[in-house]
Amino acid sequence: MEKIDKIIFESKEERYDYLNMMLEGLISEEKDWLANLSNASALMWMLMEDINWVGFYLYKNSELVLGPFQGKPACTHIEIGKGVCGTAAGTRITQLVRDVHEFPGHIACDSESNSEIVVPIIKNNNLIGVLDIDSPILNAFNEEDQKFIEKSVSILVKYIEFPNEFI
Ligand code: SME
Repeated sequence: MEKIDKIIFESKEERYDYLNMMLEGLISEEKDWLANLSNASALMWMLMEDINWVGFYLYKNSELVLGPFQGKPACTHIEIGKGVCGTAAGTRITQLVRDVHEFPGHIACDSESNSEIVVPIIKNNNLIGVLDIDSPILNAFNEEDQKFIEKSVSILVKYIEFPNEFI
């Protein structure tokens, strides 16, 4: 029997459009936030190219705490303002880091990571946490990736009701 486990996409746009369509399908009917973030990280892990870590840090008790993810075990607590994740959370601005070794204070959870993108998750003006995606390739993400990954986060924000502990 033949097993098909790779989907071939013609372009980055086609890949992300498929990912975002699948994401909406997965989470739009499900009310459980933990199940939804878990499936979101698994879906990105399955469909994105050249990544070695994808997952969530959630804002609890004035710091970021590790949430659902795929990849190697990672640091569990990150101070707001520290590293790429803490900077995205503190500024509420997406951090597109083409070379993590040049980012002051970068927290190296996996020495394989060379570039990353971190998108803040904001709902009703409250900081919920961040989506962090790491790549072993330098310069893996550009503004086009940013646009589509921010779209993924907007889908999460639209459907997920987060518990008060993250607000
Ligand atoms: N790179 C992050 C730390 C988290 S790990 O990469 C999973 C940072 O500097 O914020």
